[in-house]
Amino acid sequence: MWTSLQKWSLLLGAAVAVALPLNSSAQLTTQDIDVRNGIAAHVGSITGHVKDAKGTYRRYCVGCHGTLGDGEGENEPWVDPKPRNFQLGVFKCRSTPTGTLPTDEDLFDTIARGMDRSNMPQWSHLTKQERVDLVAYVKHFSPRWTNEKPGTPITIPPEPEVTADRIKAGRDVFARVQCWKCHGVLGMANGPSASTLTDDLGKPILPYNFTEGARPKCGETDKDIYRIFMTGLDGTPMPSYADNIKPDEAWDLVFYLRTLMAQHSKEKGMAKSLGLKPVDPNAPAGQQ
Ligand code: HEC
Ligand code: HEC
Repeated sequence: MWTSLQKWSLLLGAAVAVALPLNSSAQLTTQDIDVRNGIAAHVGSITGHVKDAKGTYRRYCVGCHGTLGDGEGENEPWVDPKPRNFQLGVFKCRSTPTGTLPTDEDLFDTIARGMDRSNMPQWSHLTKQERVDLVAYVKHFSPRWTNEKPGTPITIPPEPEVTADRIKAGRDVFARVQCWKCHGVLGMANGPSASTLTDDLGKPILPYNFTEGARPKCGETDKDIYRIFMTGLDGTPMPSYADNIKPDEAWDLVFYLRTLMAQHSKEKGMAKSLGLKPVDPNAPAGQQ
């Protein structure tokens, strides 16, 4: 005969058995992660290895991103936006289409560049080899790299010559696809949706304010800006416009965005002499 205590412990055991798999799918353990110790990274002629990045990661990254890469390092409570949880395998800065994994080169560039308006520092003082090793290390935290290949980088046509017509056309794109709903008609991050936005983890997030002079997180060249809105910043409300904006129009939009940005540019001067007005959110479609 079973005593009631034995019955209870049996029930309890069953409850624990149910709870465990749920827990471990939300949070990987060292054992779950170690199976990917063989993952490599390739940038140019350099190959990076997980084992060679252990010390560098522990010294420079663990304080924010945590031993398990879950973004729960000891500094996490004081860091906003939060350090990335590498276990999810979701990245903002990609040359690849939305929803796909970034290339090794994308991660390498991000690590060197750091992310403006966040606590993610620049790591350009580390050697190239150290940074490629770190790319392998970042990848080994997520099972996505076992099951998927990185996306194919989007094609960016050569940058055309900027003209007044292109700047005006860029303004029409900005109006048509409604960038202003979040970024505001002047790019001041105060569009009607701006205060309602949250990231995929439910944390409030603000659109980029073009007028403040801050560097975009994923690079500041014309090509970087093109890439940002044509691939989107995964994990955030900043969408990809690959299906709504043609490559030629995308360059027009880059030129228009330059007119909103604080930094001096040829485009800014041209917009001024054109007397270019901000878009009118109430104008009927096609009449900007
Ligand atoms: C002081 C805290 C801090 C340290 C130290 C730190 N990071 Fe970060 N890291 C962050 C934060 C915060 C973010 C998210 C920024 C954001 O989303 O705007 C981030 C994001 C990232 C991303 C994601 C980029 C993307 O495209 O989404 C990578 C990769 C990364 N860090 C790598 C590293 C590596 C490698 C190191 C060590 C060399 C490191 N970080 C050290 C705070 C830190
Ligand atoms: C639904 C709201 C929303 C819309 C619509 C939107 N954005 Fe964004 N955008 C964001 C958010 C939020 C961020 C900031 C993400 C971050 O800080 O990680 C952002 C960031 C950016 C950035 C800079 C990346 C950085 O460093 O933060 C650029 C450039 C940008 N958006 C351009 C555009 C353009 C161009 C359009 C229209 C084609 C557009 N956005 C439409 C929400 C939006």
